Amino acid sequence: MALEQRPVGKLDHVVIFLGAPGSGKGTQAKVLAAKFGAPHLSTGDMLREHVAKGTPFGLKAKPIMERGELVPDSLVLRMVAERIERPDCSHGFVFDGFPRTVAQAQYLGELLRQHGFSHPFVIHMVISHMMLIRRLTGRRTCSVGGEIYNIFDRPPKMEGICDNDGGVLIQRPDDREEVIRQRLLAYDKQTSPLVNYYRRLGFLYEIDASKSVPEVEQEIAQAVANLK
Ligand code: AP5
Repeated sequence: MALEQRPVGKLDHVVIFLGAPGSGKGTQAKVLAAKFGAPHLSTGDMLREHVAKGTPFGLKAKPIMERGELVPDSLVLRMVAERIERPDCSHGFVFDGFPRTVAQAQYLGELLRQHGFSHPFVIHMVISHMMLIRRLTGRRTCSVGGEIYNIFDRPPKMEGICDNDGGVLIQRPDDREEVIRQRLLAYDKQTSPLVNYYRRLGFLYEIDASKSVPEVEQEIAQAVANLK
């Protein structure tokens, strides 16, 4: 069993993890959110939940995600707007994989103003595409608690089984090499312009995401502590 973590205080900020598929957004966003007891809002996880439940959102999103393309802004924005209305978001939250287009970022800016938040703190996970294929093809995720492993670099103690809760580890359908290449293309074309968008606004913090998980975690913890 994993030791339960006691939150260190309220986050009181909106943190965005921006980076290519496999750069470590999910791994680090989960840790940061748990540290502050703040919601971890992964649009990828939300969409996969809709797909698993077969909701109208899920039925629309499924073939698009299987091709490694971005789901239309209109669908994602509705989902996000509904989620941040919930009371658990009132003291800040951590976005993982959102926003992903300039239109999403502009809409988010407006939403945050409406909810009384100042600008977001954007952590850009910088890494070369060459390192990402190994990370993504090796990724396995716990089907119960969502813990993220890697069969090459971060294996579980027992093959196929989560160390925390004994859940079966699964491979995401979009982690096949041909779909990964499409996801990287979508990132370069539609999401990477956000780096300059947030840099120009002065909200961007760059991290070398090729370092080890604990090293990246420590650097993020320090950067977020300096926000206080
Ligand atoms: P989403 O689920 O967001 O996937 P992604 O952005 O492609 O990112 P990943 O989850 O693949 O990677 P990650 O950066 O979180 O890396 P992780 O920490 O897991 O989106 C999926 C799909 O949903 C999209 O393709 C799109 O269709 C749709 N979608 C989602 N949001 C959308 C939006 N806003 N608009 C439109 N469409 C949207 O790590 C990866 C692996 O590397 C793991 O095995 C991990 O153990 C390992 N690892 C992590 N850090 C390190 C490290 N420092 N050193 C070594 N290994 C590491």
